[in-house]
Amino acid sequence: MTLTVRDFLPTDDSITRAALTPVAREMVGSMILRIASDVKRLQDSGRAVANFTVGDFAPAQFRIPDALTEEIARAVAEGQTNYPPADGLPELRSAISELYARELGLDYGPDAVCVGSGARPPIFASWQLFVEPGDRTVSFVPMWNVGYYAQLFQSRHDFVLTTAESNFFPTVQQARAAVKGARLVIVNTPLNPTGTVISPDVLRALAQALVEENAGRARPCMLLFDQVYWMLTAEGVKHANPVALVPECAPYVIQVDAISKCFAATGLRLGWGVLPPALQRSMKSLIGHIGAWAPKPEQLATARFLRQPEAMADYLDSMRSAVNQRLNALYDGVMAMKAEGLPVDAVAPQGAIYLSFRVNLVGRKGFADNEAIRLFLLDKAGVGAVPFQAFDHQQDDGWFRLSVGAVGMDDIEGALARLQAALRDALPNT
Ligand SMILES: Cc1ncc(COP(=O)(O)O)c(C=O)c1O
Repeated sequence: MTLTVRDFLPTDDSITRAALTPVAREMVGSMILRIASDVKRLQDSGRAVANFTVGDFAPAQFRIPDALTEEIARAVAEGQTNYPPADGLPELRSAISELYARELGLDYGPDAVCVGSGARPPIFASWQLFVEPGDRTVSFVPMWNVGYYAQLFQSRHDFVLTTAESNFFPTVQQARAAVKGARLVIVNTPLNPTGTVISPDVLRALAQALVEENAGRARPCMLLFDQVYWMLTAEGVKHANPVALVPECAPYVIQVDAISKCFAATGLRLGWGVLPPALQRSMKSLIGHIGAWAPKPEQLATARFLRQPEAMADYLDSMRSAVNQRLNALYDGVMAMKAEGLPVDAVAPQGAIYLSFRVNLVGRKGFADNEAIRLFLLDKAGVGAVPFQAFDHQQDDGWFRLSVGAVGMDDIEGALARLQAALRDALPNT
């Protein structure tokens, strides 16, 4: 006989939720995923909608490297299916260490590498290892997901507002001020959601300020440096790294990375932190307790793939060219509409898979806030976009993230044509 457990569960959720801690009660899910489900609903109803919402890849557009597919199958066939070490297989940690030496000019050695199931476990672990409730933590707005972590760890978080004029990165002054009295500062470049990269001058200033700040402190401020998109940059754009710029900051930096974005492998769940070995051991314990290690076949396959620099370079060339073609088409299309006098703008793409896109309609009749613009874009233009509000930016100033991971060139052409028609329609006197 099967027990119908549902009959024993209260229909009033508040009774069950009383078990949650106050912090857990306040926790909310991803706003981006909620917006993406709106797009999916409209697509399912048969409407032409270009999905620029999720920071993910549609496998029909972007595949993982063939070598990874083959090596994963081979590792499973070889029976490599038991527990890996909590901080990753030695061959993968060595391959990552070699990758950083080869491509970034940073020789940390394998003991500095802690593998996890994507970039999130090392990010989560950094908060858990270095931040206590009430500690000052700092990030620059807009930035992906930081608000959720600040809530979870109950830090006294300072969201430092940036502007399009500084490419949505801090000024040198803001960067220097950020580390003062802070326990954790977060920098992400290339930046989700803006598709821009930090200038070496600003990063150098921040790294130098970090070294100066920590010289007088018993417990140092740490820099969580999220470079998950570093291999995806526009032509002529160079990725900057704080340790390469100011080697003395190395004891205070946690580099976070993954195969998720650069190899279109978000579903394989493999990432890593690179940090001083004395801290790596604590990260290893934490990741082990959570069970957030990466699957063993993926670890072996990634180790083998990262040790084939030519196959990697070939893949990245085609990946970058496909991403940049899409971003440039979107940027050019938006700028052509701007030249026509329509109230749109964009920031020239520099990296990652995103375009900063502005629809400057707030204040016009029927457009009270970014949410009204989002619904207009979706309903009238079939353009699914994520407002910067999803990245802790509170201003209703019309800025949106457009992600190109799930769209083809035909989707982009269709979306631009619909957008132009919808804007002309909404603003007949323009
Ligand atoms: C800047 C940034 N860091 C980290 C992540 C998380 O990566 P993963 O899927 O490897 O956990 C994302 C995902 O969107 C991201 O945009």
